[in-house]
Amino acid sequence: MSDKLYHECHEVISQGKAILEDLQQWGFETVNKNAIEVPVFDVSGPLKKSAPPVLPETLLGLERSLAGCHRCSLAEQRKNIVFGAGNPQARLLLVGEAPGHEEDVRGEPFVGEAGKLLDKILLAMNLSREEVYICNVLKCRPPENRDPQDDEIAACEPFLQQQLELIKPEVIVTLGRFAAHALLKTATPISKLRGQWHEYEGLPLMPTFHPAYLLRNPTGKRPVWEDMKQVMQRLG
Ligand code: URA
Repeated sequence: MSDKLYHECHEVISQGKAILEDLQQWGFETVNKNAIEVPVFDVSGPLKKSAPPVLPETLLGLERSLAGCHRCSLAEQRKNIVFGAGNPQARLLLVGEAPGHEEDVRGEPFVGEAGKLLDKILLAMNLSREEVYICNVLKCRPPENRDPQDDEIAACEPFLQQQLELIKPEVIVTLGRFAAHALLKTATPISKLRGQWHEYEGLPLMPTFHPAYLLRNPTGKRPVWEDMKQVMQRLG
Protein backbone atom coordinates (compact mmCIF):
# COMPACT_ATOMS: atom_id res chain seq x y z
CA MET A 1 0.00 0.00 0.00
CA SER A 2 1.39 3.44 -0.85
CA ASP A 3 2.08 5.83 2.01
CA LYS A 4 -0.53 8.24 0.66
CA LEU A 5 -3.22 5.57 0.54
CA TYR A 6 -2.16 4.32 3.95
CA HIS A 7 -2.54 7.79 5.35
CA GLU A 8 -5.92 8.32 3.73
CA CYS A 9 -7.10 5.03 5.25
CA HIS A 10 -5.87 6.21 8.63
CA GLU A 11 -7.89 9.41 8.32
CA VAL A 12 -11.04 7.60 7.30
CA ILE A 13 -10.71 5.10 10.15
CA SER A 14 -10.03 7.90 12.66
CA GLN A 15 -13.12 9.77 11.54
CA GLY A 16 -15.21 6.61 11.73
CA LYS A 17 -14.00 5.99 15.23
CA ALA A 18 -14.81 9.59 16.24
CA ILE A 19 -18.35 9.20 14.84
CA LEU A 20 -18.82 5.98 16.82
CA GLU A 21 -17.63 7.77 19.95
CA ASP A 22 -20.17 10.54 19.34
CA LEU A 23 -22.92 7.97 18.88
CA GLN A 24 -21.91 6.31 22.13
CA GLN A 25 -22.03 9.67 23.93
CA TRP A 26 -25.52 10.26 22.53
CA GLY A 27 -26.69 7.04 24.12
CA PHE A 28 -26.31 4.42 21.37
CA GLU A 29 -25.01 1.90 23.84
CA THR A 30 -24.64 -1.00 21.47
CA VAL A 31 -21.94 0.87 19.55
CA ASN A 32 -18.49 -0.52 20.28
CA LYS A 33 -15.91 2.04 19.27
CA ASN A 34 -13.12 -0.37 20.15
CA ALA A 35 -14.25 -2.53 17.25
CA ILE A 36 -12.16 -0.20 15.12
CA GLU A 37 -8.45 0.03 15.74
CA VAL A 38 -6.83 3.20 14.48
CA PRO A 39 -3.29 2.52 13.32
CA VAL A 40 -0.76 4.58 15.23
CA PHE A 41 1.87 6.24 13.10
CA ASP A 42 5.28 7.05 14.39
CA VAL A 43 5.17 10.82 14.20
CA SER A 44 7.90 11.40 16.74
CA GLY A 45 10.91 13.55 16.06
CA PRO A 46 11.28 16.56 13.77
CA LEU A 47 9.70 16.07 10.38
CA LYS A 48 11.95 15.86 7.40
CA LYS A 49 10.68 16.17 3.87
CA SER A 50 12.82 13.16 2.88
CA ALA A 51 11.47 10.95 5.69
CA PRO A 52 8.72 8.43 4.88
CA PRO A 53 5.64 10.61 4.36
CA VAL A 54 3.57 10.04 7.47
CA LEU A 55 2.95 13.80 7.49
CA PRO A 56 -0.51 14.84 6.34
CA GLU A 57 -0.24 17.34 3.52
CA THR A 58 -2.65 19.84 5.00
CA LEU A 59 -3.64 21.16 8.40
CA LEU A 60 -7.09 19.69 7.84
CA GLY A 61 -5.52 16.29 7.24
CA LEU A 62 -3.49 16.65 10.40
CA GLU A 63 -6.57 17.68 12.36
CA ARG A 64 -8.48 14.69 11.03
CA SER A 65 -5.65 12.37 12.01
CA LEU A 66 -6.19 13.51 15.60
CA ALA A 67 -9.89 12.61 15.62
CA GLY A 68 -10.75 10.31 18.53
CA CYS A 69 -7.16 10.58 19.84
CA HIS A 70 -6.43 8.40 22.86
CA ARG A 71 -2.69 8.88 23.03
CA CYS A 72 -2.94 10.11 26.62
CA SER A 73 -5.42 10.02 29.48
CA LEU A 74 -6.72 13.54 28.81
CA ALA A 75 -8.99 11.90 26.23
CA GLU A 76 -11.13 10.52 29.05
CA GLN A 77 -12.49 13.86 30.27
CA ARG A 78 -12.22 16.18 27.29
CA LYS A 79 -15.31 17.39 25.48
CA ASN A 80 -13.48 18.51 22.35
CA ILE A 81 -10.02 18.31 20.90
CA VAL A 82 -8.79 21.88 20.47
CA PHE A 83 -6.58 21.54 17.43
CA GLY A 84 -5.90 25.20 16.62
CA ALA A 85 -7.44 27.99 14.60
CA GLY A 86 -6.55 30.75 12.22
CA ASN A 87 -4.84 31.30 8.94
CA PRO A 88 -2.97 28.26 7.59
CA GLN A 89 -0.63 30.72 5.83
CA ALA A 90 -0.14 32.88 8.89
CA ARG A 91 3.07 34.88 9.20
CA LEU A 92 2.69 34.83 12.97
CA LEU A 93 1.91 31.69 14.98
CA LEU A 94 1.14 31.84 18.71
CA VAL A 95 1.44 28.80 20.93
CA GLY A 96 -0.31 28.60 24.30
CA GLU A 97 -0.36 25.94 26.98
CA ALA A 98 -3.58 23.93 26.89
CA PRO A 99 -7.32 24.46 26.49
CA GLY A 100 -9.29 25.60 29.51
CA HIS A 101 -12.96 25.00 30.26
CA GLU A 102 -14.30 27.43 27.67
CA GLU A 103 -11.95 26.15 24.96
CA ASP A 104 -12.84 22.53 25.77
CA VAL A 105 -16.54 23.30 25.38
CA ARG A 106 -16.15 25.24 22.14
CA GLY A 107 -13.26 23.34 20.58
CA GLU A 108 -11.39 26.56 19.87
CA PRO A 109 -8.20 27.98 21.41
CA PHE A 110 -8.17 31.09 23.59
CA VAL A 111 -11.88 31.88 23.71
CA GLY A 112 -12.04 32.48 27.49
CA GLU A 113 -10.79 35.39 29.59
CA ALA A 114 -7.15 34.89 28.61
CA GLY A 115 -8.29 34.81 24.99
CA LYS A 116 -10.01 38.18 25.33
CA LEU A 117 -6.76 39.65 26.56
CA LEU A 118 -4.89 37.97 23.72
CA ASP A 119 -7.35 39.58 21.27
CA LYS A 120 -6.49 42.99 22.77
CA ILE A 121 -2.78 42.32 22.38
CA LEU A 122 -3.32 41.32 18.76
CA LEU A 123 -5.48 44.37 18.15
CA ALA A 124 -2.71 46.60 19.54
CA MET A 125 -0.40 44.90 17.04
CA ASN A 126 -2.91 45.70 14.31
CA LEU A 127 -3.58 42.01 13.78
CA SER A 128 -6.76 39.99 13.79
CA ARG A 129 -7.33 36.35 14.66
CA GLU A 130 -7.99 35.64 11.01
CA GLU A 131 -4.48 36.75 10.11
CA VAL A 132 -2.60 34.70 12.71
CA TYR A 133 -2.66 31.06 13.74
CA ILE A 134 -3.21 30.08 17.37
CA CYS A 135 -2.71 26.66 18.93
CA ASN A 136 -1.58 25.03 22.15
CA VAL A 137 1.03 22.56 23.32
CA LEU A 138 -1.76 20.26 24.51
CA LYS A 139 -4.84 19.78 22.38
CA CYS A 140 -7.01 18.52 25.25
CA ARG A 141 -7.93 20.17 28.53
CA PRO A 142 -6.11 18.97 31.66
CA PRO A 143 -8.66 18.38 34.47
CA GLU A 144 -9.18 21.44 36.68
CA ASN A 145 -6.72 23.29 34.42
CA ARG A 146 -3.76 21.65 36.15
CA ASP A 147 -0.31 21.93 34.61
CA PRO A 148 0.42 19.74 31.60
CA GLN A 149 2.38 16.61 32.49
CA ASP A 150 5.48 15.41 30.69
CA ASP A 151 3.82 12.35 29.19
CA GLU A 152 0.93 14.47 27.87
CA ILE A 153 3.32 16.97 26.31
CA ALA A 154 5.29 14.13 24.73
CA ALA A 155 2.14 12.52 23.31
CA CYS A 156 0.90 15.78 21.79
CA GLU A 157 4.25 17.21 20.69
CA PRO A 158 4.35 15.60 17.22
CA PHE A 159 1.12 17.39 16.35
CA LEU A 160 2.48 20.78 17.37
CA GLN A 161 5.66 20.06 15.42
CA GLN A 162 3.62 19.16 12.35
CA GLN A 163 1.47 22.29 12.67
CA LEU A 164 4.64 24.36 12.67
CA GLU A 165 6.07 22.39 9.78
CA LEU A 166 2.92 22.82 7.69
CA ILE A 167 2.37 26.51 8.45
CA LYS A 168 6.03 27.56 8.50
CA PRO A 169 5.29 30.96 10.03
CA GLU A 170 7.78 33.80 9.81
CA VAL A 171 7.64 34.27 13.57
CA ILE A 172 6.58 32.07 16.49
CA VAL A 173 5.44 33.57 19.80
CA THR A 174 5.20 31.23 22.76
CA LEU A 175 2.83 32.23 25.55
CA GLY A 176 3.98 31.13 28.98
CA ARG A 177 6.58 28.67 30.17
CA PHE A 178 5.13 25.42 28.90
CA ALA A 179 5.12 26.46 25.25
CA ALA A 180 8.61 27.97 25.49
CA HIS A 181 9.99 24.91 27.28
CA ALA A 182 8.32 22.49 24.87
CA LEU A 183 9.71 24.14 21.75
CA LEU A 184 13.08 25.31 23.03
CA LYS A 185 13.85 22.18 25.07
CA THR A 186 15.01 24.20 28.02
CA ALA A 187 13.97 24.59 31.64
CA THR A 188 15.13 28.23 31.88
CA PRO A 189 12.48 30.36 33.64
CA ILE A 190 10.18 32.27 31.31
CA SER A 191 11.25 35.54 32.97
CA LYS A 192 14.77 34.90 31.61
CA LEU A 193 13.69 33.60 28.20
CA ARG A 194 11.25 36.38 27.29
CA GLY A 195 12.30 39.46 25.45
CA GLN A 196 15.05 37.66 23.51
CA TRP A 197 14.92 35.99 20.14
CA HIS A 198 15.38 32.23 20.10
CA GLU A 199 15.20 29.72 17.28
CA TYR A 200 12.96 26.74 16.59
CA GLU A 201 13.91 24.70 13.53
CA GLY A 202 15.38 27.80 11.91
CA LEU A 203 12.34 29.98 12.71
CA PRO A 204 12.62 33.01 15.01
CA LEU A 205 10.80 32.44 18.27
CA MET A 206 9.89 35.06 20.89
CA PRO A 207 8.81 33.75 24.29
CA THR A 208 6.57 36.00 26.34
CA PHE A 209 4.30 35.80 29.36
CA HIS A 210 0.98 33.96 29.13
CA PRO A 211 -2.15 36.18 28.98
CA ALA A 212 -3.60 34.25 31.97
CA TYR A 213 -0.52 35.31 33.96
CA LEU A 214 -1.15 38.92 32.90
CA LEU A 215 -4.70 38.70 34.24
CA ARG A 216 -3.24 37.89 37.65
CA ASN A 217 -0.18 40.13 37.32
CA PRO A 218 -0.99 43.23 35.27
CA THR A 219 2.56 44.56 35.74
CA GLY A 220 3.60 41.91 33.22
CA LYS A 221 1.74 43.75 30.46
CA ARG A 222 4.51 46.25 29.80
CA PRO A 223 7.21 43.60 29.19
CA VAL A 224 4.79 41.70 26.95
CA TRP A 225 4.23 44.82 24.91
CA GLU A 226 8.01 45.27 24.62
CA ASP A 227 8.23 41.70 23.32
CA MET A 228 5.40 42.26 20.85
CA LYS A 229 7.07 45.41 19.55
CA GLN A 230 10.07 43.27 18.64
CA VAL A 231 7.72 40.82 16.91
CA MET A 232 6.08 43.62 14.91
CA GLN A 233 9.48 44.92 13.91
CA ARG A 234 10.47 41.45 12.72
CA LEU A 235 7.27 41.11 10.71
CA GLY A 236 7.90 44.52 9.18
N1 URA B 1 -4.83 29.09 27.88
C1 URA B 1 -4.09 28.48 26.94
O1 URA B 1 -2.90 28.29 27.11
N2 URA B 1 -4.68 28.09 25.83
C2 URA B 1 -5.97 28.29 25.58
O2 URA B 1 -6.43 27.90 24.52
C3 URA B 1 -6.72 28.94 26.58
C4 URA B 1 -6.14 29.33 27.71
